[in-house]
Amino acid sequence: MDYIKIALAKGRIGRNAYNVLKKAGIGDSIDLDSRKLVFKDEKKEIEYICVKPSDVVTYVQNGVADLGIVGKDTILENDNDVYEIFDFGFGKCTFSIAGKDSQTIYSKDKSLRVATKYPNITKKYFGSKQQRIEIIKLNGSVELAPLVGLSDVIVDLVETGNTLKANGLQVIEEMFDISVRLICNRISYRFKYDRIVDIVQSLDEVKN
Ligand code: PRP
Repeated sequence: MDYIKIALAKGRIGRNAYNVLKKAGIGDSIDLDSRKLVFKDEKKEIEYICVKPSDVVTYVQNGVADLGIVGKDTILENDNDVYEIFDFGFGKCTFSIAGKDSQTIYSKDKSLRVATKYPNITKKYFGSKQQRIEIIKLNGSVELAPLVGLSDVIVDLVETGNTLKANGLQVIEEMFDISVRLICNRISYRFKYDRIVDIVQSLDEVKN
């Protein structure tokens, strides 16, 4: 039988996913405390590769991994051609537009300055609303941008809302709901269908 290769996002998503995989009886070979990046379960014929969240889609898209576990935010941000086949239901948050006050963000006459880690999602979203924007691409601590006058608003993930609150910002508009998903390579879905369905079923059985 062919191995099923699963790309697992390192960090918070990986740790939560690991608990679900273990409960489902398919994650025993993973050791998140080790520096190893490849874990082989010879009995179940599953191989896990641990990669950066933003690279999970690339591994699956290229067929190096059959499946990938990653946040919906990363799926939306990367142009891709993969199937989304299961919602783990954890890592829930909301993509939101936020700013210092409930300002009007839509105007025909004005270009809005938007700071974000997610330029593609932001471009698409405001494009669909016919709003001109200038994107300020940041790599983290996006909440700082409106405070120091770098941007009018931010587009970012909001989970508890604590980061916004601590920085005197508020949600102006909610864009999309986000959670952790299982994605699948299109060719693998055809040729390894039965094994993939088995994995999805065992994950579904332990989903809260
Ligand atoms: C994420 C996100 C927000 C924060 C939201 O940042 O970009 O800043 O978490 O969470 P909250 O609503 O529960 O406060 P992350 O922790 O990944 O750090 P970063 O800003 O450095 O990217």
